[in-house]
Amino acid sequence: MRIIKRDFFVIGSGVAGLEAALGLSSVGSVAILTKEKVDDCNSVLAQGGIAAAIGKTDSSQLHCADTLLAGAGISRRRPVQLLTTAGPRVIRTLIRRGVRFDCDAAGELDLGLEAAHAQPRVLHYGDQTGAEIWRALREETARNSRIKIFSETDALDLIVRQGRCLGLIAADAQEALCCLGQAVVLASGGCGTIYGRTTNNPVSTGDGIALAWRAGARLADMEFIQFHPTALNLNEQPLFLISEAVRGEGAVLVNAQGQRFMPEYHEAAELAPRDVVSRAILAEQEQGTRVFLDATKIAEHFPERFPGIYEKLRQVSLDPARQWIPVTPAAHFIMGGVQTDTYGRSSLTGLLACGETACTGVHGANRLASNSLLEGLVFGGRIRAGVKRLPEYECSMIHDQEILASLPEMRHDRKTRPVSAQDERVRSLQETMWRKVGIIRDAAGLSEALHRLEVLAADTKADEYALINMIQVATIITRAALARRESRGGHFRSDYPLPKGSLARCHSSWAIDDEPFARA
Ligand code: SIN
Repeated sequence: MRIIKRDFFVIGSGVAGLEAALGLSSVGSVAILTKEKVDDCNSVLAQGGIAAAIGKTDSSQLHCADTLLAGAGISRRRPVQLLTTAGPRVIRTLIRRGVRFDCDAAGELDLGLEAAHAQPRVLHYGDQTGAEIWRALREETARNSRIKIFSETDALDLIVRQGRCLGLIAADAQEALCCLGQAVVLASGGCGTIYGRTTNNPVSTGDGIALAWRAGARLADMEFIQFHPTALNLNEQPLFLISEAVRGEGAVLVNAQGQRFMPEYHEAAELAPRDVVSRAILAEQEQGTRVFLDATKIAEHFPERFPGIYEKLRQVSLDPARQWIPVTPAAHFIMGGVQTDTYGRSSLTGLLACGETACTGVHGANRLASNSLLEGLVFGGRIRAGVKRLPEYECSMIHDQEILASLPEMRHDRKTRPVSAQDERVRSLQETMWRKVGIIRDAAGLSEALHRLEVLAADTKADEYALINMIQVATIITRAALARRESRGGHFRSDYPLPKGSLARCHSSWAIDDEPFARA
């Protein structure tokens, strides 16, 4: 096994990971590990934009209020304030760093409207906003001699000694790697791939969350999954996202008869919170109708405003000027994750997390649209301050050879093949999660799912690392969903359809030593 030494290891190469790495490079050497190619991340798929209170009639207090409202009563106020106050500064900095945003005819930054925002505050670059921000950060990391990227390298397990995370075991195509440093930052995104319908890149198998879990770090709010209402309804995985900004510009949802139905479900109609729109679409689908997005009224500027979506529709012979776009909800984002403070520090010393992998409590039970790129930048940027606040690391504490000698028997001696979407067990997992732990849940379905997950777990081999991660994360989500006997934000229980009072207004927190996980 090869030993790699760096001050810091960052797992994941999305916006949060790159921003964390750039910050850390000013205090030490950094290795970024990414399991496929460096651009295989959800950040580059983020279409709609990045929210920030820069409009003349807007303020960070209004952005904060909208974020708290979307979070359905359980967002943590302090991180939300940090996020929304930082928004305008982050945008100014991005522009200085070379990120392009669309401007209106007067040359002012063009601000889009998305669901549950009381103000237009979504900055965008066509429908490629995430890719544009990611490009600028990627170029900065490429110029930074203190950052080295190890692509096509799996992060397998964290190394924890004397209560501190000292690194991780990884594997590239040739060999296993023992990565030793002062701290590990998990920024590997979410876990959308555990669902049969998702907008996420297939790399989103919950690896960071599973690694933290196995190492004993606490997770929080795992039951809260956001389903995006409008993914292109084709038989493909992942499903192509039709940005919420399309509805923000005026497209409406219709059934097969062309009838608009959202006004019957919510006063904000197509711009109601995502969980409301997703459930409404599901209800229509369950009545046997297909659901479409009618964008014909915005046909004139569609190709210019949404070039990526337009190109995708063209490839599948759909003309949004004349045809409705078939859509369906799909798993999009996990609000829960590795429980951290606002500096990204987890419950395990030396282990930090940021971006979708982390749960600062900023999203509560439901994330406000276009807050995720901002979250990645703000909390990724705070990681540097987080490592400075860690207890002093004594390099001599444990010798490399001692660590090597004490490692458990390796599950891998080199990188394994990515988990195959065709694998029957993967399909069964995705189907189970979509049907039983999806948009609408109940006790019977969740218990059935747990049973199925146990059977699947028994049918894995020790080296099937991505599949094991998927099953572990799916199991935690299912247990958390079973335990929360109420409906709130992204967690809807048909057997407990209402939010509970103050008693339920708490976060759920899970660690491997807790019952019932001790036996899992
Ligand atoms: C979208 O463009 O609709 C997705 C953006 C987000 O999830 O915030």
